[in-house]
Order: sequence, then structure tokens, then C-alpha cells
Amino acid sequence: MTQDELKAMVGQAALDHVVVGEIVGVGTGSTVNKFIDELALMKDRIAGAVSSSEASTARLKALGIPVFDCNDVGEIAVYIDGADEIDPRGHMIKGGGAALTREKIVAAQARRFVCIADESKLVDVLGRFPLPVEVIPMAAQRITRQFAAFNGEAILRMRGGAPLVTDNGQHILDVRGLMISDPLAFESEVSQWPGVVTVGVFAHQRAHVCLLGMATGVRTLD
Ligand code: A5P
Repeated sequence: MTQDELKAMVGQAALDHVVVGEIVGVGTGSTVNKFIDELALMKDRIAGAVSSSEASTARLKALGIPVFDCNDVGEIAVYIDGADEIDPRGHMIKGGGAALTREKIVAAQARRFVCIADESKLVDVLGRFPLPVEVIPMAAQRITRQFAAFNGEAILRMRGGAPLVTDNGQHILDVRGLMISDPLAFESEVSQWPGVVTVGVFAHQRAHVCLLGMATGVRTLD
């Protein structure tokens, strides 16, 4: 089975976690794109979506799914999103698609986080995937030095020869060389550094259920 087929399989499996009649929280990325395509098949049975990126919003709207602003809805039942790494307790690294800030906002508004990914994303300890951190541009150099004290090498993410600009108008540092053995403490600490908008460790907003695509089918971790 190809990685694309594994993503399609978990995208479809996530439909079982959608609450009929309610607004669905929708993440960002290639796995979520598969989920959005499946969600369109039941669009008449949901109240709509809140979205974590301009890219997902465009895809949802193109498929006829209404998208609401987070401020116009209350708590949502479920948020469905991918991840770059997942540990056995449902802590994740996210932000490979640069949407981590809005992803964390929507996840915080949801009662349950359902993570969909292929099984290669499961790790014992977070940190092999370079950790995305959204930063205010004027703080990037100081934050880079702060990560160096953790043996982390922070690199400014580029696109087309210029720093990538997020949906929120900020920049992304990708940090290599970290071993994040206490994701809750790490997330709390880095979140307090001046100029950090969002750190891509999702421990306070961990996944309650992970649907992992494997050649033999969908493995559920909860
Ligand atoms: C987007 O910013 C990320 O958090 C994605 O959820 C993550 O990168 C997973 O993306 P894929 O489903 O494309 O692997």
C-alpha cells in the first residue's frame, strides 16, 4: 500500500468520529485533505467546519462545506488533524505545513482531538522531526540562540528564496537535534519565550485518539 493510500484509509476512518449535526474542526495537510474529501460525502449531515488554515478553508469551501470563524461558534465536539510525529501518549509534533498556530487554537476549542497519520509518524520520543516554531520575525535570532542552549539548531524556513510567511504573517523556525522527553514541560517553557507565537509540540492539546494507517488496516491508539 502506498503512503497516499494509507492516508486515504485513515481519512475515511476518521468519519466515524464526526458527530452528526455538529461543526467539525478540520486540520491541515495531505492526510487531512483526504479526510476533507470524505467529509464532503456527508456534508448534508454536519453543521459545517472550523478550519486551521487558508488552504483547508479553500478546500472545504470548494467542496460545499460551510466554514465558520472560531469566534462565532462555541466548543466543538471533535478536531481532526494530522501530525508530523506522535508518541505513545498522543503527544505530537505538528507544523510541517506551517499551520501550527491555528491548529492549536482549533484543537483547544475541541473536546476531542483525533489524529490521523500513517504509522511511520509513531515514535518513542519526539524530536527526530525538526520542531516547527512560529515566531515574531524580530525575535528569530534570539530564539535561535535560546534553542542552541538546548543543543537545538534552529533554521529559518524559506520558500522561494525568502522567509516563509505564515497565514498569521509570522515566520517559522525548524529546530533539529532536540530530544523532547517531557513534552508537557517543554511546551510550557518554550511557549513563554518572548517572540514565540506557537511551539509545534502539542502536549497540552494532545491527541485523544490516533488512527494510524498500516498495510494491515487502521490501528487505533487511545
Ligand atoms: C500542518 O501544519 C501540520 O501540522 C500537519 O498536520 C502535519 O504536517 C501533517 O501533515 P501531512 O498529513 O501532510 O503529513
